[in-house]
Amino acid sequence: MKEKVEALKEEISNYVATNKDQLEAFRLKFISRKSVIGDLFSNLKDVAQEDRKAMGSILNELKNHAQGMFKDLATSLENNQEEASEAPIDLTLPPVPDTLGSLHPLSITKKRIQEIFERIGFNISYGPEIEDDWHNFTALNFPENHPAREMQDTFFIEKDPDIALRTHTSSVQVRVMENDKPPIRTLSPGRVFRNEAISVRAHCIFHQVEGLYVDRNVSFADLKQTMLYFAKEFFGKDTKIRLRPSFFPFTEPSAELDISCFICNQKGCKICKHTGWVEIGGCGMVDPNVLQNCKIDPEAYTGFAFGMGIERITMLKYQVNDIRLFTENDIRFLRQFRSFN
Ligand code: PHE
Repeated sequence: MKEKVEALKEEISNYVATNKDQLEAFRLKFISRKSVIGDLFSNLKDVAQEDRKAMGSILNELKNHAQGMFKDLATSLENNQEEASEAPIDLTLPPVPDTLGSLHPLSITKKRIQEIFERIGFNISYGPEIEDDWHNFTALNFPENHPAREMQDTFFIEKDPDIALRTHTSSVQVRVMENDKPPIRTLSPGRVFRNEAISVRAHCIFHQVEGLYVDRNVSFADLKQTMLYFAKEFFGKDTKIRLRPSFFPFTEPSAELDISCFICNQKGCKICKHTGWVEIGGCGMVDPNVLQNCKIDPEAYTGFAFGMGIERITMLKYQVNDIRLFTENDIRFLRQFRSFN
């Protein structure tokens, strides 16, 4: 019997369980009531009286050994299974596709315009979207009863004193001139609001970038060269510009800025309506009244200003044919600009 106990002891110590079935086999063989150890206990009655006590304690030892081993095997099996459930890394699998977002097309255009003007010393300025009459109209030399102040153009929030959603970012330029001394070179991008019916070409909310340069001896030639520089940088080095006489209350003289059609190279196409030119914004020399309103001496300083619609420029550049696409958040549209980041 002693040899049998020794042999079992060894078998128990060397037992390996790599799965639940093997653990269960161990339990049946060494722990359950019908186990080999159980059988040995039943055989105790055949052991000689004087040896029975010693044999009993040897068997108890064996039983404890089996139980301790069973516990160890069970815990190590559990731990291994936890590790196994963390799927091993398969380095041959294809990568999970990159789902990086992209800049909105209007942000791309705004960023590019900013970069172009920052290179020639312009800083970026921002102002409130809710404006008072002074900054949006009066300081900008809008006559008292100018039609642009009427309800059809402007979203008024309050009357007397008039508070409205700004209709252009020229209001920011007034704020800059009130707070800074010349030389001023600033670019004001931002959202503007006009009470217009929404269509393929127009929206009641859109974005502008307006620029202002005020210093001694700023001339119309400076304006023209700056616009040419911008057009070449943004639309391509062969781009030409054309200035057509126009009117804005805050500039004198004023002009519409056209660029040579970069789609058809001035051969005539739908985009330029077969004229070879497309309009991209307005500009002009800052009216002396505006400088005066902002406490800048118009005898000592002159300046030029320009403004363009970010939607319009984006539509031209990327040939987007419906302004409403910019605000619809259709991922299929937005994804097409991924590579322009
Ligand atoms: N503020 C004008 C507009 O909104 C654009 C402009 C800016 C024109 C500066 C001339 C000079 O249409």
